[in-house]
Amino acid sequence: MNKSKKAIIVGASSGIGKALARELVKNNYSVGITGRRNELLLKLHKEHPEQIHYITSDCTKSNALKDIEKLTKELGGLDLFIISAGRGTLNLKLDFDLEDKINKLNVIAFTSLVNWGMLFFEKQGYGHLANISSVASQRGGGLAPAYHASKAYQASYLEGMAQRAAHSKSNIDVTDIRPGFVRTPMLQGKEMFWTSTKEKAAVQIIKAIKQKKRIIYITKRWRFAAWVFRKIPWFIFKKM
Ligand SMILES: NC(=O)c1ccc[n+]([C@@H]2O[C@H](COP(=O)([O-])OP(=O)(O)OC[C@H]3O[C@@H](n4cnc5c(N)ncnc54)[C@H](OP(=O)(O)O)[C@@H]3O)[C@@H](O)[C@H]2O)c1
Repeated sequence: MNKSKKAIIVGASSGIGKALARELVKNNYSVGITGRRNELLLKLHKEHPEQIHYITSDCTKSNALKDIEKLTKELGGLDLFIISAGRGTLNLKLDFDLEDKINKLNVIAFTSLVNWGMLFFEKQGYGHLANISSVASQRGGGLAPAYHASKAYQASYLEGMAQRAAHSKSNIDVTDIRPGFVRTPMLQGKEMFWTSTKEKAAVQIIKAIKQKKRIIYITKRWRFAAWVFRKIPWFIFKKM
């Protein structure tokens, strides 16, 4: 019988999710990965066919949770559930269609996945739930309003789950991962400051998950930036 720990990463065809899958393999996990782009998932599966299982699945569609259940069965259980699927773009024209797409993934699909994971772990009696929110969760943002608001929702929702876990008899850990900038397709090639590689981000995330941290900033210096970000008075913030 396969005794390795089992993890699912929702949104692992690219970026941080993909780096996390590779890092978990190094840590002897069996990993289930999801995303919409079949060819990228297949490529990652082929790197470690024994350890990486995949299912092509759009988490905004109605069959998404069934797909996660299938993957859980294929892995033979679930110890760690990570949500890395996310969408974020600038929306200078305040195009509602763009805001709606962000909300459908970062809020609606996110909520259904977290709900599923929490109830699964409560029934099982243990488990670790993690989501990648963002430093953007800390304040509103005029250039990408739905992105900032959706990340604030995620951070708050996860805090709710952590409180629920503390009240339950189950042994459930909840980790909110808040990156600053990580070089992934989401940055669309833009050079930002304090940017981490996705590999470095993955190492720090898995270390924090092992330590059962509640909230982590990637990289660590972003904790300070987030604190400053929260403290900036409105008369300055509105001009930024
Ligand atoms: N990169 C940064 O600087 C940064 C900073 C702060 C927070 N974050 C957060 O980190 C998370 C991961 O982003 P990333 O930087 O790694 O970007 P990324 O490379 O674009 O990865 C996003 C992942 O989400 C998946 N995804 C998107 N829509 C999906 C859907 N409907 N169903 C299933 N999977 C879906 C994508 O796969 P498919 O396209 O194949 O579906 C992809 O694997 C996001 O939540 C993002 O907001 C990133």
